[in-house]
Amino acid sequence: MIDPAPARLVVLISGSGSNLQALLEATSDPAFGAEVVAVGADRDGIAGLEHAAAAGVPTFVDSVKAYPSRDDWDVALAGHVAEHRPDLVISAGFLKLVGKRFLESFGDRYINTHNALLPSFPGIHGPRDALAYGVKVTGATLFFVDAGVDTGPIIAQTSVPVLDGDTEETLSERIKVAERAQLVEFVGRLVREGWTIEDRKVRIP
Ligand code: GRF
Repeated sequence: MIDPAPARLVVLISGSGSNLQALLEATSDPAFGAEVVAVGADRDGIAGLEHAAAAGVPTFVDSVKAYPSRDDWDVALAGHVAEHRPDLVISAGFLKLVGKRFLESFGDRYINTHNALLPSFPGIHGPRDALAYGVKVTGATLFFVDAGVDTGPIIAQTSVPVLDGDTEETLSERIKVAERAQLVEFVGRLVREGWTIEDRKVRIP
């Protein structure tokens, strides 16, 4: 039997790109079943873009301020992602909420990794908010993006202890170790096995 073509991944980033790097390493094995065909960012000069370039993956940058309105940015971003014909679009530390056009185009295949156990601590300060609340366990959540803020159907969650003496930085780094492993495992399973979503329940056969 001829192997199916690898699934096409477009990864969106805003920062250090350690989740992206984990995906680049995982997808270098053909058995993983996917390849990163492009990396998009909302800003220049970030380490994640260097990881992509080092791996020979094409990149694009769509900064919100380069467009007359947020809607124009959303349309441009959706267009640039579409050029790469993705089977799955992955927000990996991408610090922008996409808009209507993007979700119309990719809402059935746009996933995000968040550094807290949703629905607790949505938004961009997950570890800081978890520490401030005093929870003893937090973690990371992988989910399909919908029009809300970190509200979409959950694919997977992994727990991480909060330790006495943790700072935002130490907790964030501990979460990221678990988060990367979860992202790689479940992106692989999604592309190889497919999925269904019914009443918010994501099932991978
Ligand atoms: C991740 O922990 C993600 O959940 C959060 O920012 C971090 C991104 O890290 N939103 P990196 O850029 O993949 O290293």
